[in-house]
Amino acid sequence: MAAPVCLEYRIEGNDFMVAGAASNNIKNTLKMLGISSSVCTRVAIIAYEAEINLVIHGGGGVLKAEITEDRVKLTAEDEGPGIADIEKAMTEGFSTATEYAREMGFGAGMGLPNIKKNSDEFNIESEVGKGTRLYSTVFFNKQ
Ligand SMILES: Nc1ncnc2c1ncn2[C@@H]1O[C@H](COP(=O)(O)OP(=O)(O)O)[C@@H](O)[C@H]1O
Ligand SMILES: [Mg+2]
Repeated sequence: MAAPVCLEYRIEGNDFMVAGAASNNIKNTLKMLGISSSVCTRVAIIAYEAEINLVIHGGGGVLKAEITEDRVKLTAEDEGPGIADIEKAMTEGFSTATEYAREMGFGAGMGLPNIKKNSDEFNIESEVGKGTRLYSTVFFNKQ
């Protein structure tokens, strides 16, 4: 692969109808580039969970994927309420999802743990009242 491929999506807050469209697009792009299905699956999980968090917690934001010859770098940024206790938020099963979001099938509290599990590099920065920025990188063998 010569030049990096950069994808950027504006994600609307609380829009359950289109939630998942951006991560699906990222997954299809990786497939098209011939990247292995195991890497596609890992990135799809990370991108989907990050996208859903922008929708149900972050009040919307921006999801980016940068694909270079040996890695996919994902960034999810929002200017939402932020996370007071990141360690707690990373705990399996912990969720502050609303009743409405739960009725829609979200809020199992497994998103951040699954993002971390599927990432080779992972970082999350957050400030209450300012927003949240999540980084994840998945490495693969050069194309
Ligand atoms: N972008 C975000 N903005 C604010 N809070 C967030 C964000 N992402 C995650 N959180 C907090 O971390 C918790 C755990 O997230 P996650 O593991 O994805 O579980 P779930 O989305 O099912 O609640 C959320 O319930 C929420 O409190
Ligand atoms: Mg989640």
